[in-house]
Amino acid sequence: MELHSKIYVAGHRGLVGSAIVHRLREQGYTNILTRTSQELDLRRQADVEQFFVAEQPEYIFDAAAKVGGIYANNTYRADFLYENLAIQNNVIYSAYRTGAKKLLFLGSSCIYPKFAPQPLREESLLTGLLEPTNEPYAIAKIAGIKLCEALYDQYGFRAISCMPTNLYGPNDNFDVQNSHVMPALIRKFLEAKEQGAASVTAWGTGTPFREFLHSHDAADAMIFLMQHYEGRDFVNIGTGKEISIKDLTELVAEIIGYQGRIDWDTSKPDGTPRKRMDVERLHALGWQHRIGLREGIESVVEWYNAQKLNKEQ
Ligand SMILES: NC(=O)c1ccc[n+]([C@@H]2O[C@H](COP(=O)([O-])OP(=O)(O)OC[C@H]3O[C@@H](n4cnc5c(N)ncnc54)[C@H](OP(=O)(O)O)[C@@H]3O)[C@@H](O)[C@H]2O)c1
Repeated sequence: MELHSKIYVAGHRGLVGSAIVHRLREQGYTNILTRTSQELDLRRQADVEQFFVAEQPEYIFDAAAKVGGIYANNTYRADFLYENLAIQNNVIYSAYRTGAKKLLFLGSSCIYPKFAPQPLREESLLTGLLEPTNEPYAIAKIAGIKLCEALYDQYGFRAISCMPTNLYGPNDNFDVQNSHVMPALIRKFLEAKEQGAASVTAWGTGTPFREFLHSHDAADAMIFLMQHYEGRDFVNIGTGKEISIKDLTELVAEIIGYQGRIDWDTSKPDGTPRKRMDVERLHALGWQHRIGLREGIESVVEWYNAQKLNKEQ
């Protein structure tokens, strides 16, 4: 990938897409192509084909998807399956058809079987049943990985896939109902502190363990793979370190300075008990994360407060 190569970042306003654009610019890439979903609805096959024919992007980061936390995944099951299949099929196949040089598809750690051995190794794919709450989303993602592998096998198209762990960072979705655990906690504690609330209710039992990676680190890893990785096998992206949801909740409360009580709503689902990535393959390729969890959360809290202030002004 040259500094002047035409690079299309699909989903550039999202958590991951915005981080990719941010890091590409920092590294001196100048020819970055973007479209919002209003400008180009990636579910519409003919429009996507037309866009690729007209623009001929050379490198594609496919960070556009219908994404959400446990509630959204479990409630909008048909939308998660259909929309993700449509978006990824259109982007990946159009990239191949228009002779793109390389594409990076983004999967997610939820593709692994619910009870796969920890840490999650790439070899565990399709070795067991999925977590039911996000099965439709995972099935779509698995189909995307398989499409990349098949295009690589059948046509030699350089479509590679990566499986990022749970990500957090600027431009995340902070909606209390539909967001992932990290932005949901940050928002809940900030609001509770502001309102002087006596308690905050967190979801589930707090016992599951999760791994978290800052989106800027994830973007670095993705650009690194685009630059240096060739092969049909997908690569996990993560830190290899995990924290319990209870400890994470207390850490977020401490960073924000919330001193009230934390209650647990155990009627809400916990999801998979553990989800730590094996990152040996990524480390062997020569990439390691740099942003620690505390430092990462502090920077997101700062970003969120600045955003809020901007909106109020
Ligand atoms: N967040 C995580 O923890 C995490 C972890 C592992 C993997 N990933 C993967 O990373 C990718 C991006 O996730 P994210 O967290 O960045 O999601 P996000 O913040 O919700 O952003 C998704 C982006 O997709 C675009 N999009 C959605 N539907 C579209 C459509 N019909 N047409 C065109 N664009 C559409 C949106 O564009 P507009 O803003 O223009 O509407 C948005 O910018 C996904 O593949 C996800 O599986 C995320």
